[in-house]
Amino acid sequence: PRLVVLDEADAVADHAAAHIVGKLAPKPDLVLGLPTGETPRGIYARLAGAYRTGEVSFARASSFNLDEYQGLPPDHPASYHAYMREMLFRYVDIDPARTHLPDGLASDATAEGRRYEKAIAEAGGIGLMVLGIGGNGHIGFNEPGSPFDSRTRAVRLTEATREANRRSFPEGETVPEFAITMGIATILEAREILLVATGPIKAEALAAALTGPETLRCPASVLRRHPAVTIVCDTAAAAGIR
Ligand code: F6R
Repeated sequence: PRLVVLDEADAVADHAAAHIVGKLAPKPDLVLGLPTGETPRGIYARLAGAYRTGEVSFARASSFNLDEYQGLPPDHPASYHAYMREMLFRYVDIDPARTHLPDGLASDATAEGRRYEKAIAEAGGIGLMVLGIGGNGHIGFNEPGSPFDSRTRAVRLTEATREANRRSFPEGETVPEFAITMGIATILEAREILLVATGPIKAEALAAALTGPETLRCPASVLRRHPAVTIVCDTAAAAGIR
C-alpha cells in the first residue's frame, strides 16, 4: 500500500477529502463505498464544503455504505442511515435514490445481503472504497476471523467493537449485537481503496495490518493483496509501524 503519514487528524481529513474530490471531479458518476464512525466525520465536513464552493458535485455519484446495525430503523439516531444523512447527504446534491445502506430491519438477512451485492454489481462495482479500521483490525464490521470470501451478510459484533461504539447510543440503550456488513471479498473487489486511521488507539491494528502476518486475525492485513490501496494516517496511528 501507499502510506501517507501526516501530523494530525485535521491534515488526515484534508488529505482524504482532497483524494476523494480528486477522483470524483473527473469521474462524476463514481461509485463510492463509505464508512461511518468517528474517523470520517472531518472528511464528510470537507466534502460538504467542496460541494458548497462548487469544487465537486455528487449529482451523478452513487454510494454504498459498508454496514448498518441490525434492528435499528433508519431514523434511530445511532443508525448509520441517520449518520450519513446528518454528516453528508443533507449537505450535498447526491440523489437519495443512489445512496445505499444495508437494511438493518430486513427480516431475512441472507436475502438482504444478496440484494445489496446485486445492487453494487448493477451500479458497476465500487470505484473508490473508503475505510476506517477498528482497534482490533476490523474493516467494515468484518471482525477478526471473518472469511476471506465473505460477502454482505449478518455478523455478530465483538464486545470490543460494541464498547467502542457505545458513545453513539443514547444513555441506557444497548448497542446491537448484530450488524449487516459488506464482506472481505466485497471490499477487495473495489477498484481502489482509501483507508483512514487517526489516534493512538489505532496504532497496534495499523502496525499489524501493514507489517504483521497477512492473516484474517487482523482483517485489514488482507488489504495488502489489493493493488491500489492508499493509507492516510496521523503520526499517532503510525507509531507502531517500523
Ligand atoms: C464503520 C465501519 C468500521 C469503522 C471502524 C473505525 O462503518 O465500517 O469499520 O470504520 O470501526 O471506527 P471509528 O472511526 O469510529 O474509530
